[in-house]
Amino acid sequence: MSLSRRKTLALIGGGAILAAAAAVGHDITRLPRDAMRPWDMAGQYEDPRMRALSWAILAPNPHNLQPWKIDLSVPDQATLFVDTDRLLPQTDPYSRQIFIGLGCFLEVLRMAALADGMAVEVDLFPDGADDLRVDGRPVAVCRFTPTDEAPDPLFAFVQQRRSLKEPYDTGRPVPGADLERIAAATRHFGMGFTTDPARVQEMRDISTEAIRIEFATERTLRESVELFRIGYREVNANPDGLEFMGPMFETLRVTGLFTRETSMDPDSIVARSAYAAFVETMQTAMGHIWQVTPTNTRLDQIRAGMDWVRINLAATELGIGMQPVSQALQEYPEMAALYDDIHRRLAPEGGTVQMWARVGYGPDVMATPRWPLEAKIVGGTG
Ligand SMILES: Cc1cc2nc3c(=O)[nH]c(=O)nc-3n(C[C@H](O)[C@H](O)[C@H](O)COP(=O)(O)O)c2cc1C
Repeated sequence: MSLSRRKTLALIGGGAILAAAAAVGHDITRLPRDAMRPWDMAGQYEDPRMRALSWAILAPNPHNLQPWKIDLSVPDQATLFVDTDRLLPQTDPYSRQIFIGLGCFLEVLRMAALADGMAVEVDLFPDGADDLRVDGRPVAVCRFTPTDEAPDPLFAFVQQRRSLKEPYDTGRPVPGADLERIAAATRHFGMGFTTDPARVQEMRDISTEAIRIEFATERTLRESVELFRIGYREVNANPDGLEFMGPMFETLRVTGLFTRETSMDPDSIVARSAYAAFVETMQTAMGHIWQVTPTNTRLDQIRAGMDWVRINLAATELGIGMQPVSQALQEYPEMAALYDDIHRRLAPEGGTVQMWARVGYGPDVMATPRWPLEAKIVGGTG
C-alpha cells in the first residue's frame, strides 16, 4: 500500500506540519542507512552464488515482505524456500502473489549470474507443490555453472528499478509503442495494455473502488497497517513492509498523528488523508498493463513473476513508472464482485489476471529497504 507523500502533506495542512517539523529538529532528516545498504552491497561478495543472490533480493515483491530463504549448503547450488512467516493471509489467501514475487527473485538471480559469467539451471518445485497452501518444500533448486552466454541487457536496470507509487503526470501520455516494447520483454505470457482514455478511466475507477473496499474491510486494512514501518528507526529495525520515511512522516509520528492505531481509525486525519491520496493517485493512471495466465498453478505464478520483473525493468529503461494495483485481483469475499468484473474485462476468454499495474511518468523516488542477504541464508553456506 502506498501513500502519496506530496498529497498527504497538502491534505493535512503543510503549515502546521512544517511548524511541528521545526520543533522536532534534526531527527526528521535521518535516513535509514542500514535498511538501504543491500542496494550498495549488490554484487560485492566472494561466492558467485552470494553475488547473484545479492541482486535477487532487490526484486519487487508484495508488501516488500521479502519472503525468501536460501540454503547454500550444497556447493554450486542455491535452494530457495518460502519463508512461511512472511505471508499475507488476508489479502493473498492462496499466496499467489507471494509466488509471483519469488518468480521476480529467480529472474533477477538468473540475470545477475549471467552478467557474472554463470548460467543458473532452475529446477522448479523438485518435490512438487500445493497450489492453495504453502509448505516447507523447496521452490527451486538453482545450479550454477560457468557460461560464455551473453548477459541480459535488462540486468543493467536492476539498481534503478522502482515501484512508482506517486501520482503521475496527467499531461504526459504514455506512447503505445513503448508499451509494445515493454510487452516484448516477456518470455512466458505476454502483457496486455491500454492507453485508451475511456478504458483507462474505467480501470482507474475499478482500482479506486478496490482500495475503498480494502480500507473498509477491517482485517485486510489491519494486515497492511501491521506492516507499517513509521520513521527511520522502525525502518532500520525492520527493513521490510510498507515504509514511511522522510521529514513529513517523522513529524506525523512524533506528533502522534500517525501511528498504527490512528491508521485503523477511519475518522482520523491520517486515515482520511491516506485514502484521499490513494484515490488521487489511482486517478492519475495514464495507462494500464496486465498479465493473464491460462491456468493458475504455482509454476504459472512463478513464470508470471519472471515476466513481471522483466516488464518492470523494461519500463525502467524507457523511464516509465509503474505501480501494481493488486487489490481487485485479491481472492477474498468482499472483493469478489470487483475480481469478477476485472476478470471479465481483462481475461474474457478465461484465465487468471496475475498482475495489473497503472503506468505513467512520475518523480524519481528512493529505493525501498531490504534485509541484508545474510539474514536470508539458512542451513550453512556450503
Ligand atoms: C505480486 C506483487 C504485488 C504487488 N502489489 C502491489 C500493490 O497492490 N500496490 C503497490 O503499491 N505495490 C505493489 N507491489 C509492489 C511492491 O510493494 C514493491 O515491489 C515492494 O514494496 C518493493 O519495492 P520496490 O519494487 O520499489 O523495490 C506488488 C509487487 C508484487 C511483486
